Amino acid sequence: MSSVLHRTINRRAVLIGGSLAAAALLPRVARTAMDSSKELSLTGAPGRAPIVGGSYPATDVWCYGNSIPGPEVRVRQGQPVRIVVGNQLPEDTTVHWHGIRLPNAMDGVPGLTQRPIKPGRQFTYEFTPPDAGTFWYHPHADSLQQLGRGLAGALIVEEPEPTPVDRDILWMLGDWRLTSDAQIARGFGNTMEAGMSGRIGNTVTLNGRVSEEEPVRAGERVRLRLVNGALARIMALRFEGHRPVVVAIDGQPCEPHEPQGGRLVLGPAMRIDVMLDMQGEPGRRYRVVDDFYGGLSYWLTQLAYDKKPPMRAHPLDAQISLPRNPQPEPDLASAEWHELRLQGGMMGGGAMAGTGGMGGLPRGASWAINGVSTICDGGGGMPPLLILPQGRSYLLSIRNDTAWWHPMHLHGYSFRVLSRNGALVPHRQWADTVLVAPKETVEIAFVADNPGDWMLHCHVTDHQVSGMMAVLRVA
Ligand code: C2O
Ligand code: CU
Repeated sequence: MSSVLHRTINRRAVLIGGSLAAAALLPRVARTAMDSSKELSLTGAPGRAPIVGGSYPATDVWCYGNSIPGPEVRVRQGQPVRIVVGNQLPEDTTVHWHGIRLPNAMDGVPGLTQRPIKPGRQFTYEFTPPDAGTFWYHPHADSLQQLGRGLAGALIVEEPEPTPVDRDILWMLGDWRLTSDAQIARGFGNTMEAGMSGRIGNTVTLNGRVSEEEPVRAGERVRLRLVNGALARIMALRFEGHRPVVVAIDGQPCEPHEPQGGRLVLGPAMRIDVMLDMQGEPGRRYRVVDDFYGGLSYWLTQLAYDKKPPMRAHPLDAQISLPRNPQPEPDLASAEWHELRLQGGMMGGGAMAGTGGMGGLPRGASWAINGVSTICDGGGGMPPLLILPQGRSYLLSIRNDTAWWHPMHLHGYSFRVLSRNGALVPHRQWADTVLVAPKETVEIAFVADNPGDWMLHCHVTDHQVSGMMAVLRVA
């Protein structure tokens, strides 16, 4: 494990300078929500947010709608959406609607699908989300800094007939590297980190705040939407005393199942929806622990039960599965096969893996896909790595030749995850971001029905901007 990881937290989600004594109960800030019946607008601008709380000063951030995270945008499946994005930042930006199958011109990649939005200007995004589920939005320009300073929010597409639950809750998770006075630490784009785990922070937030506890009621059923909006941190959440059931991954419904080992693993950009029956004791608290990085576990928050008796004697007797989305089914028999090899990164000794040493990569690059390093973060000049004739099925074999984890994201599509190291993945879940372990090979398949130039990249932002990015052209 790299020493970078050891700079992270120990007991609590935040331990700035080693102590967060008397972590004050943070006031619940009303979450900004937006409803799609009118035209929506979102403006990115500098702001201040009390993300640590207690006696710490507010943090200087960049945010949408003056809130961290950005407003929870709720829209309806199959209904047109129009969102005017304004730019009050000191630099160019765009918004990418992560996981939504939309027209290429609305995908928000500067230099590839649109011109960047200049400071003081705006751009109107219009699309009709075909799939219900938990998605999110974030910039795709100067990504390390813009996402790292707080520009991100959830985009929830509601089913016409939602599955009955007592509460539908979002936990948008963020990770920050803060100084002892709760300000964002400098040093975005550190080359050493870029070749390793990326910029992992020391402060994990839940809906934009360090969370001491989240109130729950005994007997209730909660649909909990988890979004990992971190730059680089991978999370593996365990709910002490509870048995969450996974009902959707990256917004796409799956066969309801308990996660392996009770751990919900979320790489950057990944989402999991769980159904959680609150079967704990009234008045008690249960920790939610993240133990992805061995020896560096901490608790994210606690489920704090109200003292009231359970609202029902047995768990709610209603189905928990979600209605399927209209995803086209890839035809594996006729699918065209391509291999994508993930290369580069540090290997303890300082050599780059799979590329014949550092010298094999262009200046500024730490990573490559099939020997090509794209480092312009959507800045144009990105010839396609693959050209895929439209309408066919494709099977991509993503082979990780590196010593690091990579959450690989394909824009404009959801794909089926077929296998890992040759072993079939149960339920062949749909996803738009698949976490590939060191030395692992993952096979995915999809129907290339959406024309355009689509990014495929690692969502560890340092990796994305230092070479682990490519364009797939569907034409
Ligand atoms: Cu979450 Cu290229 O995006
Ligand atoms: Cu990566």
